[in-house]
Amino acid sequence: MRTALITGADRGLGLSLTLGLLEQGWQVFAGRFLPDYRLLDEACARYPLLRPVPLDVSSRQSILDACAMVRQETEYLDMIISNAAYMGGPNSSGFRGELPIDYSLLEYSFRVNSLGALQVMEIFLPLVEAGEMKRLCFVSSEVSSVTMMHRDAGFRYTMTKTALNVAARIMYNQLFEKGYTFRLYQPGWMKRVNPDGSRAEGADIDPDLSAGEALRQFLEDREDEQRLVLTDYLGHEWAY
Ligand SMILES: NC(=O)c1ccc[n+]([C@@H]2O[C@H](COP(=O)([O-])OP(=O)(O)OC[C@H]3O[C@@H](n4cnc5c(N)ncnc54)[C@H](OP(=O)(O)O)[C@@H]3O)[C@@H](O)[C@H]2O)c1
Repeated sequence: MRTALITGADRGLGLSLTLGLLEQGWQVFAGRFLPDYRLLDEACARYPLLRPVPLDVSSRQSILDACAMVRQETEYLDMIISNAAYMGGPNSSGFRGELPIDYSLLEYSFRVNSLGALQVMEIFLPLVEAGEMKRLCFVSSEVSSVTMMHRDAGFRYTMTKTALNVAARIMYNQLFEKGYTFRLYQPGWMKRVNPDGSRAEGADIDPDLSAGEALRQFLEDREDEQRLVLTDYLGHEWAY
């Protein structure tokens, strides 16, 4: 049986990825972070292979506790999808934002979006080492690309996603020769998911649609696995 860990799975892309893998017969350890979202619990009734796991990726102890929980149920993971991200907060992270730059929020964003992804991979790596597929997937963003990002404000989210790409690059440099393969995915501008599962207005893409394409890319082997590429939901490659 194939097994995966997905972070930030209460809603949005993480939940859609979780349900997509369950539909394909995977066992999924789904990171739970939001107390007021019950969509994962509701899905448990439909999918016996779904295992919600409390996981705050900003806390090393929480990641260690989650890993201990997962180890009680499996000796290996085939794939990890680092999806959790902090995207909220007031518009205060640019020179020309409404408020001064909020450095404590900037640090928190790094802890979740960059360091959280790194620590999850580090702590869960022995389980992936014991699995067959050895695939590490990172949900990045179009704003992570130094080459293509043209915003003149918003240090917080943008810097953390670029740092995530660099972390993925270092892991790739170290682990590709040992049989690991990598995916760096830009999901597009997705609709927000409300607590009842309905979609908020605005944005281009439903997370189910982006997750469908993500899973195609995450599960299929590439002809050029020796390259670390950033791809979008249309399968196009981005400079980063
Ligand atoms: N939405 C877009 O248009 C878009 C565009 C480009 C890239 N992305 C990326 O796509 C991924 C999924 O986005 P989404 O739209 O599905 O967002 P989402 O609905 O906000 O899902 C991300 C999940 O991660 C959670 N999270 C936040 N801090 C966490 C922590 N410390 N530990 C564990 N989980 C935590 C979020 O909770 P909270 O809501 O409480 O923070 C949320 O449940 C993210 O990596 C995001 O950066 C999104």
